Amino acid sequence: MPGPGEIRSQQPARIIGRETGLSRLRGLVDPVPLASQVLLVTGEAGMGKTALLADAADRARLAGLRVLRVTGRESESKLAFAGLHQLLRPVLSAAAGLPGRQAQALLGALGLAADPVAPDPLLTGVAVLSLLSDLSERSPVLVVADDAHWLDRSSLEVLAFASSRLDAERVVLLVGARGQAPPAGFDRGFPELHLEPLSAADAGRLLDGQPRAPRGRARAQVLAQAAGNPMALIELAKVIADDPAASRRWAAEPLPLTDRLAAILTSRFAGLPEQAQGALLRAAVADGPDLRVAASRGAGPDARALVPAEQLGLVKVDRTGLRFSHPLVRSAIYHSAPFARRAAAHRELAEALHDQPDRRAWHLAAAALEPDEHVASLLEATADQAQRRGGAAAAALAMERAAELSPVRADQARRLVAAASAAVPTGQGDWVQDLAGRALAVTAEPELRLTARHDAAWTLAWSGRRTAALSALISVAEEASRDLPALAWNALGSAATVAYQSGMPASRQAVSRTVGLLERQGPPPPGQAPGIDVNVLRLWIRASADPIGSRNQHQRREPDRARVGLHRHRALGRGARSCRRSRRHG
Ligand SMILES: Nc1ncnc2c1ncn2[C@@H]1O[C@H](COP(=O)(O)OP(=O)(O)OP(=O)(O)O)[C@@H](O)[C@H]1O
Ligand SMILES: [Mg+2]
Repeated sequence: MPGPGEIRSQQPARIIGRETGLSRLRGLVDPVPLASQVLLVTGEAGMGKTALLADAADRARLAGLRVLRVTGRESESKLAFAGLHQLLRPVLSAAAGLPGRQAQALLGALGLAADPVAPDPLLTGVAVLSLLSDLSERSPVLVVADDAHWLDRSSLEVLAFASSRLDAERVVLLVGARGQAPPAGFDRGFPELHLEPLSAADAGRLLDGQPRAPRGRARAQVLAQAAGNPMALIELAKVIADDPAASRRWAAEPLPLTDRLAAILTSRFAGLPEQAQGALLRAAVADGPDLRVAASRGAGPDARALVPAEQLGLVKVDRTGLRFSHPLVRSAIYHSAPFARRAAAHRELAEALHDQPDRRAWHLAAAALEPDEHVASLLEATADQAQRRGGAAAAALAMERAAELSPVRADQARRLVAAASAAVPTGQGDWVQDLAGRALAVTAEPELRLTARHDAAWTLAWSGRRTAALSALISVAEEASRDLPALAWNALGSAATVAYQSGMPASRQAVSRTVGLLERQGPPPPGQAPGIDVNVLRLWIRASADPIGSRNQHQRREPDRARVGLHRHRALGRGARSCRRSRRHG
């Protein structure tokens, strides 16, 4: 049985039109695939992505494929690896058969390792690839990742990594995402099926097939307003059936489609009794797993109060729990409630989730209007936890929100800088620069300022602004050299990478000159910067500044350190590559 919000929940409705898309999707799973295939299904809200993916999943099951699925949830989009956990839950026992380090990386990322190791996103990606590959040896596999625009970034990246490396494995991956562009990580030339509005003839057929289809002038109005969007056709037909005069109140100018759909849905539940609206709001605030936990602790919505909402078809309630008829129904209910009522529901839920610190912290944060140190420190703790599991984006998001909720300026600055540093590996240069810029605006503390400037400068290089990046990194190194030598060496290490990638002798010379300055200040006192090994950095800087001569020499003399240096260079390069990807993605 599908869980709340999962892909089979809005069906079965006979699909009208879409012949080409349907046969393309069905062809991927039936006959069973002989090698891996990936297809992105994109389109605006309500266009039919979920309906088409559900059809493909049904076909796949009939053809003998094992179907694994995950549905992105707005409420989980900030939780590291929440999507991956949802996807792999039914096959986690197979993770035990993975090579030791892969199993450790995967279980660590999912927060299931008793003894977590240092996070390694690459190894987590390899583990998912191996797991899918192992499963596909037993029977072909269909992975359906729907509502990918709400999947947390770490899960998306791991899925994208696995997708780009699948080859002869009998694994098909279908990704559904709202909007015009593929989701983050999937912008590197994966095949795409973009759902355009239905043709006028298909829209007419869909509308006429509704249980209480409008006639005459109202029919023409619904067709014009819906503009070929299946969900709008279905929902507008219900509105007209309930209130035939409704079309007269519709504004002539079209709203953006999602807003229009939300307005339609809001009008449908606005007439419900207050109790039902309260119960719906509680369900909308919880969503997915939180709702199940809340229900099991007596804090869920009251099933009896929900009866009128069920009768309207807004939700379905059965022994598997409650699910909204569509993600837009949940969003519309959530956003139409006044803040104070939403906040009260978030607080109630946080209470019920007392043993799940990350979910609890985010619910409390959603309820906070004013700065609140208690909530900020809870978020900071979840950021640390996410970072330990390799969820860089989740860590940065939590730290950013913690900063916003910090009543004391010094805490705000410290957290903004931590958020900027945490965001570096996500490759989102604009985000890093925004966080660093906000930190610089609120602090005069030298170490924080230099760290923020380092992070911002480093991301400049990703957007091709190498000269600006290099001079900013060198000035951080110079300014830090006297009092903060570890930070200075780190900045010069980054500058060396930029100089090396630029291929320009003048850049390498600028780095060489600064090495002299740092050498004169002597090594940083022990313990000043855990995690920074000045010897390795020195070696890396020298090798980058003189790539032919000194690197060979060092490699002969100190092969282990040279390897570590090279590893650092690759790690920094990864940030730059993922930045280029996310910029292409738009
Ligand atoms: N071609 C179609 N024929 C009949 N019904 C359709 C068609 N396309 C979509 N529907 C129905 O329209 C509604 C919205 O479709 P669906 O949920 O698949 O949209 P979506 O693109 O996944 O939207 P979202 O981006 O909000 O997830 C559903 O009730 C679905 O069954
Ligand atoms: Mg959908």
